[in-house]
Order: sequence, then C-alpha cells, then structure tokens
Amino acid sequence: MADLTLQELTAQTIVAANGLTLKPGQEAFLKPETYTHAEEELDPSGSWPRVVLDGERVVGYVMGSFDADSPEDYLRAALWRIEVAEGAQGMGVGRFAVKAFADEARARGFSRATVVWASGEAGPEKFFKAVGFVVVGQTPYGENLGALEL
Ligand SMILES: CC(C)(COP(=O)(O)OP(=O)(O)OC[C@H]1O[C@@H](n2cnc3c(N)ncnc32)[C@H](O)[C@@H]1OP(=O)(O)O)[C@@H](O)C(=O)NCCC(=O)NCCS
Repeated sequence: MADLTLQELTAQTIVAANGLTLKPGQEAFLKPETYTHAEEELDPSGSWPRVVLDGERVVGYVMGSFDADSPEDYLRAALWRIEVAEGAQGMGVGRFAVKAFADEARARGFSRATVVWASGEAGPEKFFKAVGFVVVGQTPYGENLGALEL
C-alpha cells in the first residue's frame, strides 16, 4: 500500500476505528489479559491513539501508552493496541503502524519499546517478531513480553 498516513483520532475516525473487522479468531488476541489488569495504572496523559489511513479509508488503529515513571518496565513505552482491518492485512499496514509508534517513542526519549501478546495460532506472534520485537520474558499472566530496541 503506497498511500498510508497516520492521523489523530477525530469524531469520524473513532467510529471507523471501532468498526474495524478482524479475521476469525483474532479478536481474542486484541487485548492481552496482562493489559486488562494493568489498565488502571495507565497515565491517561501518555495515551497516543492514532488511525492509519489508506487514502481516505481507515485501515488500522494503533495506540501507544507512554509513562517514563512507571515502575513496570512494560508500561513505560507500551504498544497497547494494534489492529488492521481484515481486508488490509498482510500489506504492510501493521509494520507502518509499529514504525510510527517506534518513532514516537524515540522522539519521547525512550530507547526501548515493549508489547505484550498471548501465544496462539491466530495471534500476532509472527508479526511482532517480523517487525523486530524480541521475547524478553513472560508476564505474570503467562503472556509474552516483547521488546524493541529503538
Ligand atoms: C497483527 C496485525 C496487526 C498485523 O498487521 P498486518 O498489517 O497484517 O501486518 P504487515 O502486513 O505489516 O506484516 C508485517 C510483517 O509481519 C508478517 N506477518 C504478519 N502477520 C503474520 C502472520 N499471521 N503470520 C506470519 N507472518 C505474519 C508479515 O509477513 C510481514 O513480514 P515481512 O515484512 O517480513 O514480509 C494484524 O494481523 C491484526 O490486526 N491482528 C489482529 C489484532 C491483534 O492480534 N493485535 C495484536 C494485539 S497484542
């Protein structure tokens, strides 16, 4: 896809982002249990939600969460959510979104970004490894903690 851009959420794109349809089985991986339990610890001022547009069409959503002072390593520069519309998967949209998130983290002074994911067939493990995350541990919920050196 040649014409990808990143945009802040607007009233219009929020609706489109909420309506993204995934492939069968993927929904279960969208929100790792670790993040569900950590939600209340997030600093809302460090939230970085963006949509990916292909031309005018919303094809992806990415949210980073930044909190340099968090006591938890995996909550400092966290890739909190990433999803790409079913029909737009496999064409580089996810890679584009991770790069944008990594650029943002670097601009904020971080030297490492993290993501948490659950293992499983329809899960994002191969994607995260393909875009450069390396498994550095497991969370208390048995999920993978991946790190990307920036
Ligand atoms: C994971 C997800 C965001 C990937 O987005 P995408 O746009 O399809 O990924 P890309 O096309 O940018 O792929 C980037 C690389 O990952 C690889 N990849 C992506 N999905 C893969 C899969 N299921 N199996 C193997 N490799 C995969 C691609 O082959 C590509 O590698 P290459 O550039 O070396 O050829 C998308 O599948 C998705 O929305 N999944 C459901 C939501 C989800 O699980 N989110 C993560 C929550 S923790």
